[in-house]
Amino acid sequence: MIYRSLLRPILFRLPAETAHELALTSLSFSSTLTKQLIGDRYRRSPFGKLRRFGLTFDNPVGLAAGFDKDGVALSNLATLGFGFIEAGTVTYHPQPGNKRPRLFRLPLDKALINRAGFNNQGAADFVKRVSQHKPDCILGVSIGKSTVVDLENAVDDYLKSFELVYPIADYIAVNVSSPNTARLRELQQPGQLEALLQALQARNDKLATKTGRSALLPLLVKLSPDLEKDELEQLVEVAQRHQVAGLIATNTTTKRTGLRTNANKVAAFGEGGLSGAPLRPRAAKAIAAVFNLTRGTLPIIGVGGIFNANDAWELIAAGASLIQVYTGFIYEGPSIAKDINEGLRCIISREGFVSFDEAVGCRAVDYAD
Ligand SMILES: Cc1cc2nc3c(=O)[nH]c(=O)nc-3n(C[C@H](O)[C@H](O)[C@H](O)COP(=O)(O)O)c2cc1C
Repeated sequence: MIYRSLLRPILFRLPAETAHELALTSLSFSSTLTKQLIGDRYRRSPFGKLRRFGLTFDNPVGLAAGFDKDGVALSNLATLGFGFIEAGTVTYHPQPGNKRPRLFRLPLDKALINRAGFNNQGAADFVKRVSQHKPDCILGVSIGKSTVVDLENAVDDYLKSFELVYPIADYIAVNVSSPNTARLRELQQPGQLEALLQALQARNDKLATKTGRSALLPLLVKLSPDLEKDELEQLVEVAQRHQVAGLIATNTTTKRTGLRTNANKVAAFGEGGLSGAPLRPRAAKAIAAVFNLTRGTLPIIGVGGIFNANDAWELIAAGASLIQVYTGFIYEGPSIAKDINEGLRCIISREGFVSFDEAVGCRAVDYAD
């Protein structure tokens, strides 16, 4: 409440990326006392522990990739009640990302447009920092392709990041769906994805033997919401054949349909991925399609346009067994994980389900084509 009435108006007067940097820096300095005061209260899970791809989650609400790309505030972000955080996307080569301005608000649509382009200090630097401050929740690490590396050499570039982040990640997300790195999304094509996943899982297997792990580290693939139905079908087939632990649906969209914001203003923002409320129907559709294709056997992290428990419920009913927020966190503030968890408990019991897991995908058929 204080966030929306007091802090947000101040932050929203600043350029979007400046506000983001200010929030992240404050979070990286926030005191141990704050952590203890809010930590316990926020971390309580209304559903008990959730088992997903071999990991135990305190609650189903995660922070999506891109918010803390360099892992500078993970511990304090965890105290806000997130069951998991996906850090990154990191690339093997440190890189500045695209020219600023590259992040824009569309308040009328509760949306953002960004073309950040994987600005990050590189996977090695990330690992050094995070090994000293691992958050007190599940940590996913998203890896992407370095801009200086051609698509033809992408596999090797991903492998180098994979190997670096392997020791500190609870799961690794393969980002092949950001619209802001040239040609990246071509890696979602079956042949390209096949080569990438084959190499990553072979390395995963080798590292498991070397480190004495009894199983592969969970490897997830993040999807674009802009795939056609047949493209999605092929992608799911390849992912399953390579024992992917789950899919993350979805990344931002390049589409600009159905927006309330003035079309000229939207056009002036230029290229980039749209996130927030307008993305939710697309995300729900992609989630339901994956859920139906796999008959619910492949865990799906649902992300796109979640601002409250009702939005989260929509993606859970479509088939997501975990959810993430990014734009909702910017608009709703630091209590979003706690609010969604509390709200979900009421919704799930109101709908007559005895457990969270029983509710997953209950409306997947309705969201499909
Ligand atoms: C500014 C910004 C940066 C992002 N950076 C990344 C990223 O580095 N890697 C990634 O996988 N997704 C990234 N995303 C996408 C989000 O993780 C998420 O998939 C998308 O925004 C949809 O969720 P939302 O509607 O809750 O924001 C970014 C989104 C925004 C708004």
